[in-house]
Amino acid sequence: MLMLWAIIIVFSLIYIAILVYLLYALYAMISGAPFVPTNHTKVERMLKLVELKQDEKFIDLGSGDGRLVFAAAKKCKHATGVEISPLLHIISKLKKTKSKSKNTTLIRDTLWNVDLSEYDVISIYFIPHWMNKLKKKIKREMKPGSRIVSHAFTFPDWQPVAKDDTIYIYKV
Ligand SMILES: C[S@@+](CC[C@H](N)C(=O)[O-])C[C@H]1O[C@@H](n2cnc3c(N)ncnc32)[C@H](O)[C@@H]1O
Repeated sequence: MLMLWAIIIVFSLIYIAILVYLLYALYAMISGAPFVPTNHTKVERMLKLVELKQDEKFIDLGSGDGRLVFAAAKKCKHATGVEISPLLHIISKLKKTKSKSKNTTLIRDTLWNVDLSEYDVISIYFIPHWMNKLKKKIKREMKPGSRIVSHAFTFPDWQPVAKDDTIYIYKV
């Protein structure tokens, strides 16, 4: 009988975890983009094209498992990731513990709540219908000269200053 209860509890927990993940995946799709990780080669190309420097602060908006954050942290002063999904946030926290990275911050929140004024470089991999709203937030909050590296998607009525395949660089 005890064994049966243990099995029911374990399966209920797995079921709840899957349900929470799916609900956040749906929410992420509506409020931004679903989780589609950037491959590691492209991560390096993005950071090279945006010319991230040692004295700069970087943030990945919708940081997924944190791969851009940890790669950027090796090249700049401080790298932050904001991610809406609790599961992906936990995965990136585990990666931070494993890598013993000191100059990284991982935030579990929606990117719309983040003040962008302190960052020199932001990265995004976002769906098209939010790009206009994001452009307005960037122009409102970021300092002149700060840069944006966008994977796959462009901003409406804003010319990139550089492009490599599906990577676009914008300057405020
Ligand atoms: C296409 S993935 C990119 C992940 C990562 N930046 C990369 O390139 O590997 C987009 C990420 O944004 C997250 N996301 C979607 N809407 C968001 C929001 N409003 N605030 C924060 N993160 C969001 C998703 O959960 C997902 O992990």
